[in-house]
Amino acid sequence: MNVAERIQELKAQRNAVILAHNYQPPEVQDIADFVGDSLGLSQQAASTDADVIIFCGVDFMAESAKVLSPTKKVILPEPDAMCPMSAMCTDLELAMVKEKYPEAAIVAYVNTSAAVKALSDVCCTSSNAVKVVGKMPQEQIIFVPDRNLGAYVQRFHPNKQILLWPGFCPTHDNITVDDINTLKRQHPQAKVMVHPECTAEVIDIADHVSSTEGMIKYVRSSEAQEFIVGTELDMTYRLSKEAPGKKFIPVPEAICPNMKRTTISSVIKALESLSPEITLSPEMIEAARRPLERMIEIGRGD
Ligand code: 13P
Ligand code: SF4
Repeated sequence: MNVAERIQELKAQRNAVILAHNYQPPEVQDIADFVGDSLGLSQQAASTDADVIIFCGVDFMAESAKVLSPTKKVILPEPDAMCPMSAMCTDLELAMVKEKYPEAAIVAYVNTSAAVKALSDVCCTSSNAVKVVGKMPQEQIIFVPDRNLGAYVQRFHPNKQILLWPGFCPTHDNITVDDINTLKRQHPQAKVMVHPECTAEVIDIADHVSSTEGMIKYVRSSEAQEFIVGTELDMTYRLSKEAPGKKFIPVPEAICPNMKRTTISSVIKALESLSPEITLSPEMIEAARRPLERMIEIGRGD
């Protein structure tokens, strides 16, 4: 029996579904039932009828899946797959800021712990952050934890006062204007797509800014044949599958090491042992669910 057959067998025995983020290594994307962006994965987690969710991604994504599907077993095959940006905002820090700005709404990017979500009014992903902030009646918004995404959202809502948290994604924040311009010189016909976790300077020179799933839509609707991909490297694998024939040029240094922890053998082990399991208290699930469900109701924005 080959590896793919073994995974199919275990999935059937466990009634499991495998969800994988667009930044997962190609071989993990290939064995997943659903590959997508943070919003798509949350939607899948909320609607699955599987008993077990194997989450190939990072900690906050698996936690969100548990919050949205509390009766399911949610397994993160590599427990050390943690998002460093999510760790840049703790619930204690946020509680102090919340006290200082009692009139403000708290909008939490999904890249946060369940404890931070529990203190928030609503969650968002890079797909719908602009739309979510626009729906908030409050003029003042505490946006956590990504300062780059928050500053990008501010461009669309000049009448709001967005208080930026000093968090950032090391993978995206390290992409420079020089990196993009070098690739543009090598591929003068290519369109530049970047993720809103990039810096304002990088966003300013892009032809298109969106979530990873938004990039797929853009590529499909564009006449262009070549695209510089200003996000995590393995997004180019997903893009090549969705738009075969088009050429995708990655920023070679844009690697998220935590997304690369998951391997085929860790997925098989997870299916065999049904561990390591995500556990959250019922109170935490209840408190974090409201802002996540509010986000899912608002839906996609790009
Ligand atoms: P999206 O896939 O939602 O665009 O998010 C990117 C990301 O960095 C997730 O950690
Ligand atoms: Fe976190 Fe950045 Fe990795 Fe996404 S790419 S999981 S934001 S470190």
